Amino acid sequence: MQFVVSPSRLTSGALTVPGDKSVSHRALLFGSIAEGRTEVTGFLPGEDCLATLAAMRAMGVPVESVSATEIHIDGVGLHGLAAPATALDLGNSGTAMRLMAGLLAGQSFDSVLTGDASLSARPMGRIIRPLGEMGAVIGSRDGKPPLEIAGRGGLGAIDYTMPVASAQVKSAVLLAGLYADGVTRVTEPAVTRNHTELMLAAMGVPVRCENGCVSLEGGPRLEGCPIVVPADLSSASFVILAALLSRDADVLIRGVGINPTRTGVIDVLRTMGADIRLENERLLGREPAADIRVRASELRGGPVDPALVSLAIDEFPVLFVAAAAARGRTVFSGLAELRVKESDRIAAMAAGLQALGVSVDETPDGAVIDGGRIGGGEVDSYGDHRVAMSLAVAGTVADGPVTVRDVAAVDTSFPGFAALLGSLGADLEVRTP
Ligand code: S3P
Repeated sequence: MQFVVSPSRLTSGALTVPGDKSVSHRALLFGSIAEGRTEVTGFLPGEDCLATLAAMRAMGVPVESVSATEIHIDGVGLHGLAAPATALDLGNSGTAMRLMAGLLAGQSFDSVLTGDASLSARPMGRIIRPLGEMGAVIGSRDGKPPLEIAGRGGLGAIDYTMPVASAQVKSAVLLAGLYADGVTRVTEPAVTRNHTELMLAAMGVPVRCENGCVSLEGGPRLEGCPIVVPADLSSASFVILAALLSRDADVLIRGVGINPTRTGVIDVLRTMGADIRLENERLLGREPAADIRVRASELRGGPVDPALVSLAIDEFPVLFVAAAAARGRTVFSGLAELRVKESDRIAAMAAGLQALGVSVDETPDGAVIDGGRIGGGEVDSYGDHRVAMSLAVAGTVADGPVTVRDVAAVDTSFPGFAALLGSLGADLEVRTP
């Protein structure tokens, strides 16, 4: 599948984007091991979360799909999961695999986790090491999936300082910590998304967060509870940038998660001159949300504060496009983690923007982008959903049509992306070559 995007002018209006991917995964995992019912609304029916849903069902958890975005989970309790009959295929989802490994490390049955070609190339040593210190036995292919998890039970708590800032690693260790004897502590080198901590607390688990250290005691009882999933700020970012770059646009995106561990993208864009306002701020359960109003703005380049990296970790592909459209030079650094996402996102975005005539100098942990003009051309997504959507947004302001190849992965996180951008006036055609 390809996107063919032609220069377009967006109309003003209000819209919603699909539910938050990180919160949807966690609702499934924690709702499954809670006692009682967890009713989830605003669930993201993207392929990644549907893989987690299928995995929980395969372990005997009754999950009813009331509609595409509403699921009811009848939790089986901390020790109620059943051995899956076959390997659990987690598709493209790093979050599903790393969090699931933490959950399965504490079970008394064996399990195998597999994924697609992209997931099979991603580093799992970062979770195998701490889970191993807790007593888990996890086989891998040189630190890469498939993961073979031997169910031994009886994990021990650890005090773990993460070498990289990763919410997936933090969550995997905390999930295993639910099954460990004693108090598990995880210290992060930089603030990462805290949806695990917030959801566990909402389910009645005493979670302590102090000075970058999260701790919990093993063997708690999780109480099922209603979960309203906010719209995903990472998905909203594509719409935000398209609106910023379109003359006279004034777009309202409703009910978006603005958890401060996720809002780096708004901070970076505002520093570049973006007019982004938060309206109607409220709490959805424990997660902060707001309507985001975006007005067309002249963006200018500059250095991007590396302190914001972990707060905007998934938004750098779209920020690279912002830099390409902005006046002047933008310097990104501290982005080494981007090289081990669904693709090497620094290389993928550099190649895509260069093919569109933008001057991009790749560095080991970032890029220097001289913005101002984006040309038409043909680019590759490298099978990465966020690269595909970012380059599609570039097409709305390019001098000529942009064809983005291999865009099927967009459905992993943002089903309906093309139709939604089209409804705002983007000239975006989906073609099957
Ligand atoms: C996620 C954490 C981040 C992010 C991913 C979702 C999560 O990954 O990139 O899309 O839900 O915990 P890392 O933990 O590898 O930074």
